[in-house]
Amino acid sequence: MTARTTDIEKAAGVLSAGGLVALPTETVYGLGANAEDSAAVSRIFQAKGRPPSHPLIVHIGSAEQLDDWVQDVPRPARLLAEHFWPGPLTLVLRRGPRVPLEATGGLETVAVRVPDHPVALALLAAFGGGVTAPSANRFGQVSPTTADHVRAELGDAVDFVLDGGSCEVGVESTIVDVTSEIPSILRPGGVTREDLEAVLGFPLAVPSTSRVRVPGQHPSHYAPRARVALVEPEKVVTEAELAQELGHQVGVFLPPALADAPVKAHAVVAVPGSVAAYARGLYGFLRELDRLGCDLIIASLPVEEGLGLAIANRLRRAAGPRPTV
Ligand code: TXA
Ligand code: MG
Repeated sequence: MTARTTDIEKAAGVLSAGGLVALPTETVYGLGANAEDSAAVSRIFQAKGRPPSHPLIVHIGSAEQLDDWVQDVPRPARLLAEHFWPGPLTLVLRRGPRVPLEATGGLETVAVRVPDHPVALALLAAFGGGVTAPSANRFGQVSPTTADHVRAELGDAVDFVLDGGSCEVGVESTIVDVTSEIPSILRPGGVTREDLEAVLGFPLAVPSTSRVRVPGQHPSHYAPRARVALVEPEKVVTEAELAQELGHQVGVFLPPALADAPVKAHAVVAVPGSVAAYARGLYGFLRELDRLGCDLIIASLPVEEGLGLAIANRLRRAAGPRPTV
């Protein structure tokens, strides 16, 4: 934690005055505004270039404040909030009157979480209200896990950047829709399905993937400049070398099992063997390969269990078809 008390006070003042503050969380940096200030919330969408129909997450200071923001909290939601907050879990519930429709993209539900980061919690305590914050990146691009990433990407569009060091988890929160009887995961993230089910004592519903309900479910998201191609782990080296020979500037995500394999490519990232370290590093690796001038990234998917599910979800989206400009 590098932010000082004076920074926290200044950031709280910016929020109260209707400004935008980039804040660290344990997952990724957020671009925050006073959740109850419609004009400030609208500025978030402008700064990100995000369509106004895409709902935001309201960050609150503690699980005890949940009922100030939502209505009808079912038992499973209460259980998850008590168990995982502060932490990388977002709950979708019925919107309370304090939440403006600008923050929910017009929906009657609202996403809420308590972030597990000392700087974010200090800011929420000093400010006193809720802070709506999407990830602090331009719409569709790689989420920021350091204050430098935010400055490089959003620059003057943000009034104040609170520096809280690098994010510990590195991928966004898990979003769980708790409005229906059997909760379902809308986006895998920092809390694993296995952990959620252990606390609930029953399996979560599998949501239909055909309904695009959240921007994280659009085909292209979390995308670096370079194109991303996913191949089987044993083909990573041959595909990378082939593409490099064909004239691409290839960046390779080398799977842990091939850590020592020689590979002729423009740049190589050795994927960490620990899935937590992989999640923590993922967005930084993508940014680094862009910075090094790669135009193609060859990667494979990790085993889709635990945090591997969130990593695979982000890599698939990064590899998804890009909008034609
Ligand atoms: O870890 C995180 O969740 C980070 C940090 C900053 O807290 N935030 C984040 O925000 O990832 P964003 O805006 O990049 O992603 C929020 C996701 C979006 O996919 C959005 O559609 C979904 O939450 N969401 C928000 N409100 C919703 C609602 N009422 N129903 C369904 N999905 C919702
Ligand atoms: Mg985002």
